[in-house]
Amino acid sequence: MYVCVCKGITDHQIKDAVYSGADTLGKLRKSLGVATQCGKCACHTREVIRETSGTAEMASGLGSPLWYAVA
Ligand code: FES
Repeated sequence: MYVCVCKGITDHQIKDAVYSGADTLGKLRKSLGVATQCGKCACHTREVIRETSGTAEMASGLGSPLWYAVA
């Protein structure tokens, strides 16, 4: 799904960049150019960063789950 229409940047590109260490909006602006034109995609970009960062922490074993199953 396109997150940044101005630059044609998808959520997959953002997730890949976050996995590679670009875990802030500023870093993504520099690496991908997201949110550098009209800026309307900044909020959704932050959301993708937040979701992906949580996943990355879980995958590396560094984070704690944000939810627990209830029997
Ligand atoms: S939609 Fe991303 S800069 Fe315009």
